[in-house]
Amino acid sequence: MNKQQIVEKILDNNNFDRYRVNKHGQAFAPSNIALVKYWGKSNTVLNIPNTDSLSISLGNLGSDTQISIYGGNEDLVIVNDLVIKNDTEFYLRVKNYLDLFRNYKTNGEQLFNYNYKLEIKINIPIASGLASSACGFAALVQAFDNLFNLNLSKQDLSILARLGSGSASRSIWDGFVYWQKGNDIYGMDSFSYPINTQLADLCIGLLILSTQQKAIGSTKAMLDTCATSVLYNKAWKFQVEQDLQLMNKAILSQDLELLGETAENNALAMHATMLAAKPAIMYSNKDSIEAIYKVWELRKQGLKIYFTQDAGPNLKLIFHSRDLTKIQNIFTNIQVIQAF
Ligand code: PMV
Repeated sequence: MNKQQIVEKILDNNNFDRYRVNKHGQAFAPSNIALVKYWGKSNTVLNIPNTDSLSISLGNLGSDTQISIYGGNEDLVIVNDLVIKNDTEFYLRVKNYLDLFRNYKTNGEQLFNYNYKLEIKINIPIASGLASSACGFAALVQAFDNLFNLNLSKQDLSILARLGSGSASRSIWDGFVYWQKGNDIYGMDSFSYPINTQLADLCIGLLILSTQQKAIGSTKAMLDTCATSVLYNKAWKFQVEQDLQLMNKAILSQDLELLGETAENNALAMHATMLAAKPAIMYSNKDSIEAIYKVWELRKQGLKIYFTQDAGPNLKLIFHSRDLTKIQNIFTNIQVIQAF
């Protein structure tokens, strides 16, 4: 099955009522940070991961999307009050995604074959290294669901969001989220679900070190790592298995220190698989390395602070809320997120 057929399969199973179309559909989806990372796909087109992963959603940081049927001759996409040009990568990704629904046919009829107006508000700090595609696709598919009263299950919404961007499958939920890779070759069981335990004390600080566009996108970096890194191919899945166990234990026992240690070790291991690729892929810059040493130094002094890092140079700091003021005094430009 290709993406189109997967969308068809999911939509065929729902009870769409053509007479109940709303004026517009609206949805908010949070951004998320993986504590046990997803790195590497078994299917690059369908975004099916090689391993399970576990994330934390970022509360009210994310994307708010409103969608309506539009009379113009192509989709109109507005992000934070700016009209997005129709030849940009952003516009084309959204348009291609909506095409999957436009092309859907049932009994020879194309029920969703309209142009759409999208008004998107993203409140993630610009260039923070937080994937806007994750919350973007998760909000878009839920807004679409609301527009047509499709009432798709969260499971189906997670699969559909995944077709837009892998990590978007996790942004369907709040709090801690588990994305199971599944076993189906078409990814019909590759979706996310929430872990219904909170950790109220958890603070996350975004440490923005570079606003430059990253040199290599995550899809290409994953492909190159899988193709050339012995560390990836011989060790990564064992690292993930171990870390998922530790992370589940940390969440259940409300152990922020175990959570932080595990997230940091997992992120370093992910970056190690990339450093072992040929040629090496390195997302850290000098400032990232300096900040990592700073975190380690603070930890030596007794402060319980940890970091994680995704496909970019910026770090996300993990610490107890009791240490917030102290940490804000050390890292003066962090943006703090209370996930619960
Ligand atoms: O879903 P993508 O293509 O944005 O890839 C996400 C990859 C990481 O952020 C590095 C890890 C993760 O699990 O989110």
